[in-house]
Amino acid sequence: MKSNGSLKIAAMGDLHVKENDGTSYKELFSEISQIADILVLTGDLTDLGKPREAEILAAELRSCSIPVVGVLGNHDYECGHVEEVAAIIKDAGVQLLEGQAVEIDGVGFAGVKGFAGGFGRYMLGSFGEPAIKAMVAESVEETMRLENALRQVRSERAMVVLHYAPVLDTVAGEPQEIYPFLGSSRLAETIDRFPVKAVVHGHAHRGTYSGKTPGGAPVYNVASHIEKPTGRPYALLEL
Ligand SMILES: [Fe+2]
Ligand SMILES: [Fe+2]
Repeated sequence: MKSNGSLKIAAMGDLHVKENDGTSYKELFSEISQIADILVLTGDLTDLGKPREAEILAAELRSCSIPVVGVLGNHDYECGHVEEVAAIIKDAGVQLLEGQAVEIDGVGFAGVKGFAGGFGRYMLGSFGEPAIKAMVAESVEETMRLENALRQVRSERAMVVLHYAPVLDTVAGEPQEIYPFLGSSRLAETIDRFPVKAVVHGHAHRGTYSGKTPGGAPVYNVASHIEKPTGRPYALLEL
Protein backbone atom coordinates (compact mmCIF):
# COMPACT_ATOMS: atom_id res chain seq x y z
CA MET A 1 0.00 0.00 0.00
CA LYS A 2 1.21 3.52 -0.75
CA SER A 3 1.87 6.05 2.03
CA ASN A 4 -1.22 8.05 0.96
CA GLY A 5 -3.32 4.95 1.65
CA SER A 6 -4.13 4.18 -1.98
CA LEU A 7 -3.99 0.64 -3.26
CA LYS A 8 -2.13 -0.39 -6.42
CA ILE A 9 -4.28 -2.86 -8.31
CA ALA A 10 -3.06 -4.97 -11.22
CA ALA A 11 -5.98 -6.23 -13.32
CA MET A 12 -5.96 -8.74 -16.15
CA GLY A 13 -8.42 -11.09 -17.81
CA ASP A 14 -8.67 -13.79 -20.43
CA LEU A 15 -5.61 -15.81 -19.52
CA HIS A 16 -7.18 -18.82 -21.31
CA VAL A 17 -4.76 -21.27 -19.69
CA LYS A 18 -4.50 -24.39 -21.88
CA GLU A 19 -2.99 -27.83 -21.42
CA ASN A 20 0.46 -28.25 -23.01
CA ASP A 21 0.65 -24.99 -24.95
CA GLY A 22 3.92 -23.91 -23.34
CA THR A 23 2.66 -20.50 -22.16
CA SER A 24 3.58 -19.70 -18.59
CA TYR A 25 2.28 -16.85 -16.44
CA LYS A 26 4.80 -17.52 -13.66
CA GLU A 27 7.14 -14.65 -14.51
CA LEU A 28 4.25 -12.26 -15.10
CA PHE A 29 2.75 -13.14 -11.70
CA SER A 30 6.04 -12.50 -9.92
CA GLU A 31 6.51 -9.22 -11.85
CA ILE A 32 3.01 -8.12 -10.78
CA SER A 33 3.75 -9.10 -7.16
CA GLN A 34 6.69 -6.66 -7.17
CA ILE A 35 4.69 -3.64 -8.37
CA ALA A 36 1.09 -4.10 -7.19
CA ASP A 37 -0.69 -4.70 -3.88
CA ILE A 38 -3.47 -6.82 -5.36
CA LEU A 39 -4.10 -8.83 -8.53
CA VAL A 40 -7.60 -8.85 -9.99
CA LEU A 41 -8.49 -11.55 -12.57
CA THR A 42 -11.50 -10.85 -14.80
CA GLY A 43 -12.45 -14.35 -15.97
CA ASP A 44 -11.72 -16.79 -18.80
CA LEU A 45 -8.98 -18.04 -16.54
CA THR A 46 -9.05 -21.38 -18.39
CA ASP A 47 -9.56 -21.96 -22.11
CA LEU A 48 -12.11 -24.79 -22.01
CA GLY A 49 -13.06 -24.95 -18.34
CA LYS A 50 -11.08 -28.18 -17.83
CA PRO A 51 -10.05 -28.99 -14.24
CA ARG A 52 -6.56 -29.82 -15.58
CA GLU A 53 -6.26 -26.26 -16.96
CA ALA A 54 -7.32 -24.86 -13.58
CA GLU A 55 -4.63 -27.01 -11.90
CA ILE A 56 -1.97 -25.56 -14.24
CA LEU A 57 -3.11 -22.04 -13.34
CA ALA A 58 -3.17 -22.93 -9.62
CA ALA A 59 0.46 -24.10 -9.83
CA GLU A 60 1.52 -20.91 -11.65
CA LEU A 61 -0.24 -18.75 -9.06
CA ARG A 62 2.28 -19.97 -6.49
CA SER A 63 4.64 -17.33 -7.89
CA CYS A 64 2.10 -14.63 -7.02
CA SER A 65 2.76 -13.32 -3.51
CA ILE A 66 -0.03 -10.70 -3.30
CA PRO A 67 -3.77 -11.29 -2.67
CA VAL A 68 -5.76 -12.35 -5.75
CA VAL A 69 -9.44 -11.56 -6.34
CA GLY A 70 -11.32 -12.77 -9.41
CA VAL A 71 -14.42 -13.83 -11.29
CA LEU A 72 -14.97 -16.66 -13.76
CA GLY A 73 -15.68 -16.18 -17.47
CA ASN A 74 -17.82 -18.02 -20.01
CA HIS A 75 -14.86 -20.21 -21.07
CA ASP A 76 -14.58 -21.51 -17.50
CA TYR A 77 -18.05 -23.04 -17.99
CA GLU A 78 -17.37 -24.75 -21.34
CA CYS A 79 -16.70 -28.35 -20.19
CA GLY A 80 -19.48 -28.50 -17.62
CA HIS A 81 -17.01 -28.76 -14.70
CA VAL A 82 -17.32 -25.20 -13.42
CA GLU A 83 -17.70 -26.24 -9.77
CA GLU A 84 -14.48 -28.26 -9.88
CA VAL A 85 -12.68 -25.44 -11.71
CA ALA A 86 -13.89 -22.92 -9.11
CA ALA A 87 -12.80 -25.17 -6.23
CA ILE A 88 -9.27 -25.59 -7.66
CA ILE A 89 -8.93 -21.83 -8.18
CA LYS A 90 -10.21 -21.09 -4.65
CA ASP A 91 -7.79 -23.68 -3.20
CA ALA A 92 -4.99 -21.77 -4.93
CA GLY A 93 -5.91 -18.79 -2.72
CA VAL A 94 -7.98 -16.78 -5.20
CA GLN A 95 -10.97 -15.02 -3.62
CA LEU A 96 -13.47 -15.96 -6.30
CA LEU A 97 -16.43 -13.57 -6.39
CA GLU A 98 -19.76 -14.96 -7.60
CA GLY A 99 -22.07 -12.25 -6.36
CA GLN A 100 -20.15 -11.37 -3.19
CA ALA A 101 -17.85 -8.61 -2.08
CA VAL A 102 -14.54 -8.74 -0.25
CA GLU A 103 -12.69 -5.88 1.38
CA ILE A 104 -8.90 -5.70 1.11
CA ASP A 105 -6.90 -2.85 2.62
CA GLY A 106 -9.84 -0.46 2.53
CA VAL A 107 -11.07 -1.26 -1.00
CA GLY A 108 -14.28 -3.24 -1.51
CA PHE A 109 -14.26 -5.57 -4.52
CA ALA A 110 -17.74 -6.58 -5.75
CA GLY A 111 -17.65 -9.30 -8.38
CA VAL A 112 -19.86 -11.27 -10.70
CA LYS A 113 -19.35 -12.84 -14.13
CA GLY A 114 -22.16 -10.88 -15.78
CA PHE A 115 -23.82 -11.98 -18.99
CA ALA A 116 -24.69 -10.99 -22.55
CA GLY A 117 -27.82 -9.14 -23.70
CA GLY A 118 -26.80 -6.01 -25.55
CA PHE A 119 -26.65 -2.32 -24.89
CA GLY A 120 -28.88 0.73 -24.46
CA ARG A 121 -32.21 0.74 -26.21
CA TYR A 122 -31.16 -2.27 -28.29
CA MET A 123 -30.88 -4.61 -25.29
CA LEU A 124 -32.61 -7.97 -25.81
CA GLY A 125 -36.10 -7.84 -24.27
CA SER A 126 -38.00 -10.62 -22.54
CA PHE A 127 -40.42 -11.43 -25.37
CA GLY A 128 -41.35 -14.49 -27.43
CA GLU A 129 -39.83 -17.93 -27.07
CA PRO A 130 -38.89 -19.36 -23.68
CA ALA A 131 -35.23 -19.58 -24.82
CA ILE A 132 -35.08 -15.81 -25.37
CA LYS A 133 -36.82 -15.19 -22.04
CA ALA A 134 -34.33 -17.52 -20.32
CA MET A 135 -31.46 -15.55 -21.81
CA VAL A 136 -32.85 -12.23 -20.59
CA ALA A 137 -33.61 -13.76 -17.17
CA GLU A 138 -29.98 -14.89 -16.86
CA SER A 139 -28.82 -11.37 -17.69
CA VAL A 140 -31.17 -9.83 -15.09
CA GLU A 141 -30.14 -12.42 -12.48
CA GLU A 142 -26.45 -11.65 -12.87
CA THR A 143 -27.30 -7.96 -12.45
CA MET A 144 -29.18 -8.69 -9.22
CA ARG A 145 -26.17 -10.68 -7.97
CA LEU A 146 -24.01 -7.63 -8.67
CA GLU A 147 -26.48 -5.45 -6.77
CA ASN A 148 -26.29 -7.78 -3.75
CA ALA A 149 -22.49 -7.73 -3.92
CA LEU A 150 -22.42 -3.91 -4.05
CA ARG A 151 -24.76 -3.72 -1.04
CA GLN A 152 -22.18 -5.69 0.96
CA VAL A 153 -19.46 -3.08 0.34
CA ARG A 154 -18.84 -0.94 3.42
CA SER A 155 -15.73 0.83 2.14
CA GLU A 156 -15.94 4.22 0.41
CA ARG A 157 -13.70 2.85 -2.34
CA ALA A 158 -15.44 0.17 -4.42
CA MET A 159 -14.22 -1.66 -7.50
CA VAL A 160 -16.55 -3.78 -9.62
CA VAL A 161 -15.03 -6.92 -11.16
CA LEU A 162 -16.83 -8.43 -14.17
CA HIS A 163 -16.12 -10.70 -17.12
CA TYR A 164 -18.75 -9.30 -19.50
CA ALA A 165 -18.72 -5.61 -20.47
CA PRO A 166 -21.16 -3.15 -18.87
CA VAL A 167 -20.79 -0.49 -21.60
CA LEU A 168 -20.31 -0.20 -25.35
CA ASP A 169 -17.20 2.02 -25.05
CA THR A 170 -14.89 -0.84 -24.14
CA VAL A 171 -16.19 -3.34 -26.72
CA ALA A 172 -15.56 -0.90 -29.60
CA GLY A 173 -13.12 -2.55 -31.99
CA GLU A 174 -14.96 -5.87 -32.00
CA PRO A 175 -17.23 -6.68 -34.98
CA GLN A 176 -20.48 -4.75 -34.38
CA GLU A 177 -22.48 -7.89 -35.11
CA ILE A 178 -21.30 -9.50 -31.85
CA TYR A 179 -21.72 -6.51 -29.51
CA PRO A 180 -24.88 -7.98 -27.89
CA PHE A 181 -22.91 -11.12 -26.93
CA LEU A 182 -20.14 -9.15 -25.22
CA GLY A 183 -22.09 -7.66 -22.35
CA SER A 184 -25.13 -5.83 -21.10
CA SER A 185 -26.07 -2.28 -20.11
CA ARG A 186 -28.07 -3.74 -17.24
CA LEU A 187 -24.74 -4.10 -15.40
CA ALA A 188 -23.96 -0.40 -15.88
CA GLU A 189 -27.45 0.62 -14.68
CA THR A 190 -26.77 -1.21 -11.41
CA ILE A 191 -23.21 0.12 -11.09
CA ASP A 192 -24.49 3.68 -11.44
CA ARG A 193 -26.72 3.31 -8.40
CA PHE A 194 -23.64 2.87 -6.18
CA PRO A 195 -20.54 5.01 -5.60
CA VAL A 196 -18.18 2.85 -7.68
CA LYS A 197 -14.64 4.15 -8.26
CA ALA A 198 -13.69 1.79 -11.10
CA VAL A 199 -14.96 -1.17 -13.09
CA VAL A 200 -12.79 -3.83 -14.73
CA HIS A 201 -13.89 -6.51 -17.18
CA GLY A 202 -12.53 -8.77 -19.91
CA HIS A 203 -14.18 -10.96 -22.59
CA ALA A 204 -13.90 -8.45 -25.49
CA HIS A 205 -10.38 -9.40 -26.64
CA ARG A 206 -10.47 -6.90 -29.51
CA GLY A 207 -12.19 -4.10 -27.61
CA THR A 208 -10.94 -0.80 -26.20
CA TYR A 209 -9.06 -0.19 -22.95
CA SER A 210 -11.09 2.54 -21.30
CA GLY A 211 -14.60 3.95 -21.17
CA LYS A 212 -17.23 5.20 -18.74
CA THR A 213 -20.69 4.23 -17.53
CA PRO A 214 -23.48 6.76 -18.26
CA GLY A 215 -23.13 7.83 -14.60
CA GLY A 216 -19.40 8.47 -15.04
CA ALA A 217 -17.76 5.44 -13.41
CA PRO A 218 -14.49 4.62 -15.21
CA VAL A 219 -14.56 1.24 -17.00
CA TYR A 220 -11.44 -0.67 -18.10
CA ASN A 221 -11.30 -3.63 -20.46
CA VAL A 222 -8.31 -5.50 -19.05
CA ALA A 223 -8.40 -8.60 -21.32
CA SER A 224 -4.74 -9.60 -21.68
CA HIS A 225 -4.95 -9.01 -25.46
CA ILE A 226 -5.86 -5.32 -25.07
CA GLU A 227 -3.13 -2.69 -25.40
CA LYS A 228 -2.77 -0.85 -22.11
CA PRO A 229 -0.87 2.20 -20.81
CA THR A 230 1.47 -0.18 -18.92
CA GLY A 231 2.59 -1.76 -22.21
CA ARG A 232 2.07 -5.06 -20.36
CA PRO A 233 -0.80 -7.60 -20.46
CA TYR A 234 -2.15 -6.19 -17.17
CA ALA A 235 -3.54 -2.78 -16.24
CA LEU A 236 -2.33 -0.88 -13.18
CA LEU A 237 -4.98 1.14 -11.36
CA GLU A 238 -4.73 3.11 -8.15
CA LEU A 239 -7.71 3.27 -5.84
FE1 LIG B 1 -11.77 -14.57 -23.33
FE1 LIG C 1 -15.12 -14.58 -22.38
